[in-house]
Amino acid sequence: MQIAPSILSADFVNFQRDIERVANADLLHVDVMDAHFVPNLTWGLPVTERICEISPIPVDAHLMIDDPDAWAVRYAEAGCASVTFHAEASSDPAGLAGRIRAAGARSAVAVKPGTAPDEVIAHLDAYDMVLVMTVEPGFGGQSFMPDMTDKVRRVREAALARGIDLDIQVDGGIARDTIPAAASAGANVFVAGSAVYGAPDPAAEIDALRELAREAGRA
Ligand code: DX5
Ligand code: ZN
Repeated sequence: MQIAPSILSADFVNFQRDIERVANADLLHVDVMDAHFVPNLTWGLPVTERICEISPIPVDAHLMIDDPDAWAVRYAEAGCASVTFHAEASSDPAGLAGRIRAAGARSAVAVKPGTAPDEVIAHLDAYDMVLVMTVEPGFGGQSFMPDMTDKVRRVREAALARGIDLDIQVDGGIARDTIPAAASAGANVFVAGSAVYGAPDPAAEIDALRELAREAGRA
């Protein structure tokens, strides 16, 4: 069970301080938004590259951009440990995943709440991780969509049936009250922005979330 704090909820003029505050996490979730694929705008390659240089934990880039076919490999080359692009935005998701792996990062594909997982499942061995969005991408602080646990379950069952060692990530509205449902459905990587950075002690919140996910996963 891995916790990935999202720096979308960090203080943007104190990234280094806020990244060091979550050094007990498993991954650092970096949301790249281009104001086209999603209505919001964050940062791009140069900022992400610098974050990779200073982060004490592996960086997990979540690309919410229109043209991952042109950009995703550059995030792998910039030092991201895993690069997640949206299935909806790529003309050849499985091919792009292969290029990300060849560039030395783990490959991951994301699906928005309205996207069926069938295409992803059909090429499951191309991916090291599947991100099932549990909110519409674009903003932090939204409510978890409980129906998405069915999608998590379908992807997990497909991976188990085919003997694929797959990480399943959920992103959006993950907090103490929602993490058990996602973990029992088969998710094992949990992005949390507002829950971690909104807590009085972000590091303690990460440990609490991880423990809740472990308990739910064992049940
Ligand atoms: C939303 C981003 C998330 C966001 C999650 O589009 O992909 O990573 O930071 O924020 P919370 O945990 O506050 O829902
Ligand atoms: Zn994200």
